Amino acid sequence: MPETTGPLPEVLRDPCELRRRLDAARAGGRRVAFVPTMGALHAGHLELVRHARELADVVVVSIFVNPTQFGPREDLASYPRDLQTDLRLLAGLADLVLAPGVEAVYPPGHATTIHVAGLTEGLCGASRPGHFDGVATVVAKLFSMVGPCSAVFGRKDFQQLQVVRRMTVDLDLPVTVVGRPTVREPDGLAMSSRNRHLTPEERRRATALVEGLRAAAAAFAAGERSVAVLDGLVRAQLEGRVDGIDYVFVGNPETLQPFAGPVPPGGTMLAAVAVRVGRTRLIDNTELGAEDLVVPAGGHSPGTQD
Ligand code: PAF
Repeated sequence: MPETTGPLPEVLRDPCELRRRLDAARAGGRRVAFVPTMGALHAGHLELVRHARELADVVVVSIFVNPTQFGPREDLASYPRDLQTDLRLLAGLADLVLAPGVEAVYPPGHATTIHVAGLTEGLCGASRPGHFDGVATVVAKLFSMVGPCSAVFGRKDFQQLQVVRRMTVDLDLPVTVVGRPTVREPDGLAMSSRNRHLTPEERRRATALVEGLRAAAAAFAAGERSVAVLDGLVRAQLEGRVDGIDYVFVGNPETLQPFAGPVPPGGTMLAAVAVRVGRTRLIDNTELGAEDLVVPAGGHSPGTQD
């Protein structure tokens, strides 16, 4: 990925120092936009940061591998960490990077967890118990440290986006949560920090996710609204190509539950998948009726913007 040019962002380790700096910016009438990340940045993250730049005068990116959202058998220890490369990628895009140590975010005695009921039990929540509690808690803390007007998230982690939206509304946080379309490789594979773990052979098979979603999108565009049919189209692409299916979900994008009755006219449907390819867990989704999964040259699906 070509590195961007421009000044490197300033790195702050201390959330209190960041708050002081941003208070001064706000006092001068400057608006702050925020992109939370766990580092290992790729073109998908950079698109979020570019969008943040359009929303505000000061752009803050956090790089923090949040331990509380990893399960005991997940890849916390091996999660890629390369701050210097991330900073070069953010050159000219972000003003400040918050890169706190674990103790700055979770000091001894930390005892508060945020649980968003309902949205977190299904999909990824079913196989990753506690994951979204960790996400909701750290995002609330980061919002409190940064105090942004807007925070930008990718729609690839659609369940995370909905959990963060719910948490922000429920806690009356004065932040506009913006969801941005998934950035894709030229063959459609959704960009992810985990793609780097795929062998070339696994990488070829991984396109089964987007091909399944495209099959569902084509059928939806032709008028198909049966959950069973759409689900079957996705699974038909996955079977024999991936090494395990965690879930295929076709249902309500707002509640992340199955539809209670027929899909309302003009309504959208979420098609979401989680699979294992080799040892790597991959997720992808599309909101049928709201996104266009056609991938133009350059690999950036237009999708929706909200
Ligand atoms: O999507 C991520 O990278 C993480 O879940 C987030 C939002 C930065 C919280 O740790």
